Amino acid sequence: MELRGTTAVVTGGGNGIGRALCSALAAEGVNIVVADIDANAARSVSEELRTRAIETIDIKVDVSCVESVHRMAELASATFGGVELLFNNAGVIPPASALIETSVADAEWIFNVNVLGTLNCIREFAPRFQDADREARIINTASEHALGVPHVASGVYTASKHAILGLSDVLRFELPRHVRVSVLCPGIVATSLWRATERRQSQYGGPLASNPMAEELMQGLGMPVEEVATRAIAGVKRGDFYIVTHPHSVEYAEERWHEIQQSFRTYAPRYSGDERFNLKALFMNAFKSSNDDSRRQQKED
Ligand SMILES: NC(=O)c1ccc[n+]([C@@H]2O[C@H](COP(=O)([O-])OP(=O)(O)OC[C@H]3O[C@@H](n4cnc5c(N)ncnc54)[C@H](O)[C@@H]3O)[C@@H](O)[C@H]2O)c1
Repeated sequence: MELRGTTAVVTGGGNGIGRALCSALAAEGVNIVVADIDANAARSVSEELRTRAIETIDIKVDVSCVESVHRMAELASATFGGVELLFNNAGVIPPASALIETSVADAEWIFNVNVLGTLNCIREFAPRFQDADREARIINTASEHALGVPHVASGVYTASKHAILGLSDVLRFELPRHVRVSVLCPGIVATSLWRATERRQSQYGGPLASNPMAEELMQGLGMPVEEVATRAIAGVKRGDFYIVTHPHSVEYAEERWHEIQQSFRTYAPRYSGDERFNLKALFMNAFKSSNDDSRRQQKED
């Protein structure tokens, strides 16, 4: 896909990976909507982009709030006449704890922002992309934890990233060919994600001091954000589903596959006629014909 002249919405664009995505998109000549719950951070990115002669606006958005996401989509479309790239990048991580000690409030926070936030933006933009007759992309930020790297002491975060992979995997088959879906799966990146708890909203327990050990780990071991953004942009241009960034994660993805394969060998070896249980083919055909019918109906109306 040729990116020059298109418009991108980057949620969580005010910091970290989102900020680097904005910068990399600017280098490709893309108009940018920097959207973040942290209005000051979004503004500072937007101002920096303007010094590079990029058309940009910044918007304060809470992706977990349907109305807030709707306002963002309306403003982005009204300003640029349409959007072609949606980066669902905003995300938070809870304080480290064993899964059985995770509070319900933290679990709600993580799922509301990471998963429902992604879904809210998809529900706003995907119908617009679907109805427009030009190429578009939705890039959902999951993590290497969705591929099989277990994040001990962050079980709910890991589950939220699996949810993002799951919904992306379905979405890619439900949308028409001109709207491609990608799932970005970084490993550790040098950002301030460890400070997410400092910005935890009151309904989830309010701000909490961040863990200095997490800072040391992320800043010391993390991949530079620019490297992640470069891979993401390459993947977007190619329209690939999986966009991975950290080479060693492949070991865990293979380990997961070998364990699954072993389970199939033990409990469910193939036999002739077993494809009668193939639900994917059944659902794909049923969905395609009901989708075709509803589009035909919409055109007639
Ligand atoms: N840093 C890593 O090691 C790493 C690894 C894999 C995946 N990720 C994912 O990458 C994405 C970006 O994280 P990052 O590492 O750049 O962290 P970051 O904290 O630097 O950036 C996240 C941004 O999201 C914004 N945000 C938080 N809640 C929001 C909300 N409700 N609505 C709108 N914006 C909100 C924050 O204000 C912040 O600007 C996240 O989805 C994260 O889970 C990060």
